[in-house]
Amino acid sequence: MSLHGRDVISIRDLTRPEIEELLDSARRMIPYAEGKKVTHPLTDKIVAMAFFEPSTRTRLSFESAVHRLGGECITIADPLVSSVRKGESLSDTVHMLTSYSDAIVLRHPNEGSARLAARVSEKPVINAGDGAGQHPTQTLLDLATMKEAFGTLSGLRVVLLGDLKYGRTVHSLAYALALFGAELVFSSPSTLRLPDEVRDQLEHMGVRIHEEDQLHRAVRDADVLYVTRIQKERFPDEAEYLKVAGSYRIDNGVLAGAKSRLIVLHPLPRAGEIAAEVDATSHAAYFRQAFLAVPVRMALLAALLGGPKSKGRS
Ligand code: NCD
Repeated sequence: MSLHGRDVISIRDLTRPEIEELLDSARRMIPYAEGKKVTHPLTDKIVAMAFFEPSTRTRLSFESAVHRLGGECITIADPLVSSVRKGESLSDTVHMLTSYSDAIVLRHPNEGSARLAARVSEKPVINAGDGAGQHPTQTLLDLATMKEAFGTLSGLRVVLLGDLKYGRTVHSLAYALALFGAELVFSSPSTLRLPDEVRDQLEHMGVRIHEEDQLHRAVRDADVLYVTRIQKERFPDEAEYLKVAGSYRIDNGVLAGAKSRLIVLHPLPRAGEIAAEVDATSHAAYFRQAFLAVPVRMALLAALLGGPKSKGRS
């Protein structure tokens, strides 16, 4: 098995053994991500960061990962200062980036944009979030955090809470958790349930869709509570957003009925879904999750780029 030169557009592009290998490699990368050891498999490699939507953690952890691996980054962090503002198409932008770099990390507001970029690019494309579509590298670090806490993924009861309709992180994560035999519970406002195509895929994999609208009931038996932000920017109509804004919030009162080993995850940024008081509890794992972004993305970049081969010749 080799990930060398491959695109990572959907978590479904990776098999379970490939994900397992990446998680093992990410664990070994931790001292390098912390700067305690040095490894430079990306010497002379350039990775293009093309971010056409806001990002803090994803872009900076990718950049940190490239630097820790001895590579260099070129970055579009603000579409307003790139030629997109002059009307350049995504495929033209990708054509340029492919000749300036060895891999492209793309975040874009349109679902399907990363797949389109991968068709145009001769170099590997990593989807760092395509609209309400997928966010496969976030899933890898979500899995890494769960695995670090519990030693396994199979049999974990994971509650996915919040905006399941527009939240790309849950679309990728639900699929991966199903692959690893976790038990899934979906909890969301009724207008923000999982999209039909994601639900159909999961059912096709034999997952029984279990929904729980009562927060305290959902939390009671959970091992992992994966909280998401309502994706305000994806609502076609602000009135619809206002109907669900602030409809759930995790605080110490909600967690009083939880298992002592429950971990709370959140891809971040949070916008009021988790009270600050939770940060001081042993349940809060979201900052560890944010740190693990670096070793996980190091593991992925090293697998895609470390070594001499190019895309399509793995
Ligand atoms: C998420 C995203 O961009 O999808 N953030 C992230 O990558 N850490 C979640 C969100 O924006 O709510």
